[in-house]
Amino acid sequence: MLDTPPTKRQQAFDRLGALRSEAAQGGGEDRIKAQHKKGKMTARERIHQLLDAGSFTELDAFVTHDCQDFGMEQKRILGDGVITGYGTVEGRLVYVFSQDFTVFGGSLSAAFAKKICKVMDMAVRNGAPVIGLNDSGGARIQEGVASLGGYADIFYRNVQASGVVPQLSLIMGPCAGGAVYSPAITDFTLMVDQTSHMFITGPEVIKTVTGEEVTFEELGGSQTHTATSGVADLRYPSEGDAVLSLRKMLSYMPSNNLETAPFQPLDQDPNAQRRIADAQKKLRDIMPDNPNQPYDMREVISTVLDPDTFFEIREEYAANILIGFGRLGGHAVGIVANNPNHLAGCLDIDASVKGARFVRFCDAFNIPLLTFVDVPGFLPGTDQEKGGIIRHGAKLLYAFSEATVPRLTVITRKAYGGAYDVMNSKHIGADLNLAWPQAEIAVMGPEGACNIIFRNEITSAANPNETRKQLVDSYSAKFATPYEAADRAYIDAVIFPEETRRYLLDGLRASLNKRVETPKRKHGNIPL
Ligand code: HXC
Repeated sequence: MLDTPPTKRQQAFDRLGALRSEAAQGGGEDRIKAQHKKGKMTARERIHQLLDAGSFTELDAFVTHDCQDFGMEQKRILGDGVITGYGTVEGRLVYVFSQDFTVFGGSLSAAFAKKICKVMDMAVRNGAPVIGLNDSGGARIQEGVASLGGYADIFYRNVQASGVVPQLSLIMGPCAGGAVYSPAITDFTLMVDQTSHMFITGPEVIKTVTGEEVTFEELGGSQTHTATSGVADLRYPSEGDAVLSLRKMLSYMPSNNLETAPFQPLDQDPNAQRRIADAQKKLRDIMPDNPNQPYDMREVISTVLDPDTFFEIREEYAANILIGFGRLGGHAVGIVANNPNHLAGCLDIDASVKGARFVRFCDAFNIPLLTFVDVPGFLPGTDQEKGGIIRHGAKLLYAFSEATVPRLTVITRKAYGGAYDVMNSKHIGADLNLAWPQAEIAVMGPEGACNIIFRNEITSAANPNETRKQLVDSYSAKFATPYEAADRAYIDAVIFPEETRRYLLDGLRASLNKRVETPKRKHGNIPL
């Protein structure tokens, strides 16, 4: 019996099937193998790990470039090196683009850029986050300025989307040249140890221009950017860990600036509730008797928040300030806290910038702020002054002052000098300001203060050391307490440490419907 020729309809179906298979192959089997050999997933595998199973809808899978130079007209690959579309994370809509290193090294052509711009536009229109998975050799060299234009189209959209929808970048391979500016504008950047690198100019160019020899890792590896430059927020030992963490991070964010983050109700089981209540009692013992002895502010934060919800960000950078997300009574919150374990919790340039950017993210996305204060002041020193601590410190002051989300503060111990004002004080718009009984709220610490205001008495005393001690003791008794501030209502309540969670929880609930009218203006002028 003769085979019947396929119908036109069948031919059309076969063609689509073949094109889909071709697109799914990206740069081909050998390049996929090479990608795996480097310990990297393919662009498609990353998307499938990131999104809820079966939720991905791909767009523009058959787009190709239109470059006619350098023999590129002979080399067209379906999708052109970037996979774009949308899907869900924990049931919530997100838009994604995933650069495919197996296709022209993930380099960006005009067509590639258009695909990314399309999903960015859709994300803003539909109020959903944009997640970019970066693995690219940068501008597609064969396309010249068309590629640069494509990058600029993306940068422009990054800025327009900023504060409207969350934008998150995962760096999973090279991210070089001007390409780094898209992740830099996004809200959070996550890197993978050893396999991801970000730099403006690579080791070769640096060697040519300055003679300096540096490895990829040293120049732009994950540790460099999370611990030293502050370009990236988090790093992970594997791509899988990074992707899982990003999914968790999203749970603390709303989909857009008109919504609030998902509410995750607390376990109402009486045993769980009792465990939380019992845990609060240990806060009494956290604070050492010696006011100069450090303690772990993370322990305070984790005890006060709903159990196991503290998600710290930028742990390795400016360790004197802690930032991160958490939950209180099921509500997502942002935490900013001085860390007495590092530089005694002083505010310096890096800490101010780290805190300010986080405060602005939370404010843009309706995430209430909890601030834990134990700060001896701004870090003194010529390095800091010459580096511009005045301008950079002002960023944190500015960020808190302009934030209109619910803002609650707990002073656990020191709140001295300008740092008292900056760390979410009542004066700059906080809603609830609490202090523990050991709090010291004053212009400066007792020793420094007495050395200045009693200099003459001390130097002319028969026994200067004894006189200084007496003066310091009497200054401490009067000023190194929370009661001067409470007397002026700068502190709403002085509380026992174990009452912190309850006060914050009630304070948060009371301010969730907060409304603030701000003067009409184009935008403020944060001291950048
Ligand atoms: C076109 C590129 C490319 C690029 C890589 N490829 N980068 N094609 N344009 N920018 C191609 C390679 O020719 C190769 O193709 C394939 O991708 C894989 O590259 P390899 O070099 O074999 O991979 P690897 O050894 O892993 O090295 C990766 C790399 C290196 C470190 C990224 O390829 C590299 O240095 N590329 C150039 C990076 C760069 O200078 N880009 C421009 C930055 S400036 P075949 O066919 O052989 O597999 C920039 C400006 C943006 O981006 C400005 C925006 C404002």
